[in-house]
Amino acid sequence: MTTTIPTLPAPLGLLAELTHRCPLGCPYCSNPLELDKRSDELDTATWARVFHEAAALGVLQVHLSGGEPAARRDLEDIVQAARDASLYSNLITSAVGVTNERLLALSDAGLDHVQISIQDSTPESADHIAGYKGALARKQALAAEVVRLGLPLTVNVVVHRANIDHIEAMVDLALALGAGRVEIAHVQYYGWALKNRAALMPTREQVERAVGQVEAMRTRHHGRIVIDAVVPDYFARFPKPCVGGWGRRSINVTPAGKVLPCHAAEVIPGLEFWNVRAHSLGDIWRSSPAFNEFRGTGWMQEPCRSCVRKDKDFGGCRCQAFLLTGDARATDPVCHLSPHHALVEQLADVRADAPYSYRS
Ligand code: SF4
Ligand code: FES
Repeated sequence: MTTTIPTLPAPLGLLAELTHRCPLGCPYCSNPLELDKRSDELDTATWARVFHEAAALGVLQVHLSGGEPAARRDLEDIVQAARDASLYSNLITSAVGVTNERLLALSDAGLDHVQISIQDSTPESADHIAGYKGALARKQALAAEVVRLGLPLTVNVVVHRANIDHIEAMVDLALALGAGRVEIAHVQYYGWALKNRAALMPTREQVERAVGQVEAMRTRHHGRIVIDAVVPDYFARFPKPCVGGWGRRSINVTPAGKVLPCHAAEVIPGLEFWNVRAHSLGDIWRSSPAFNEFRGTGWMQEPCRSCVRKDKDFGGCRCQAFLLTGDARATDPVCHLSPHHALVEQLADVRADAPYSYRS
């Protein structure tokens, strides 16, 4: 059954996955197991068209992501195309492989914002998690250059068992780097990360301590840095409104041009995704079967269907519901009202100190 919502909202953000190529091997990578090949990547002109179509739909921001977007030789042209379409452009980069000259060229092309991920607060641990020697030093060097050029900087930290006890040190590092914002995200267990779930899962005590530290840091650093953080899924009582609700806020275009309602949507079997090579972004947003599949609330089962929160969290994450229950229409088992919630509690207690399986 497909449903449409009476007034289709305008999407706010476009996630443009320019390439799946990446120099790092993070064990929590949320990209799909099957990566798009370089030969299948959209060309510059197609991205430029997509950006104009996105702006016409009401999109304000484009997040240039990957993989490592700087692996694309035409990244400056892509940034210029975003500027020409009047989109605010955010480069999401590992910083590895981005020289100062390249950053200057990107800035000259109209880049508005840079987001750099860090894996931990010390080189030993950060490089181990990234699977790349010297990664943290390169990130620090590029962050300094971003600030020197006057570009706003966000530091992104993905936390898990090996680094969650260093949250304060990582926020201190973000401050020292001159970031105006730090995003503390917990590993989402889909894509490659699912393989490493037991090796990445924090303990309940770690999560509770981290939540307290974040609150204290928000007070301590008020006015100096914005701290974005949420309680990790497996330890929450209610799910988050994943991607702001399916087909409501965001559009994700893969390197090969497939348009997804969320980053992980391809894990759900049977969804029909349309491609920007064959359709305009506007048509896809309004009419593609995958976007309409879980729009609104008509698709919901109990307990979501009669729940007062259904217009707030939209039943949680469809991908997680499928991965944990085999039914993409089920209530996200993260919700304590889900009949499958005990499964999440069990999985949150499964930990193994096995070596990481690095993204290859
Ligand atoms: Fe959200 Fe559904 Fe849980 Fe209600 S039952 S809180 S709508 S996930
Ligand atoms: Fe797909 Fe949450 S990641 S809906």
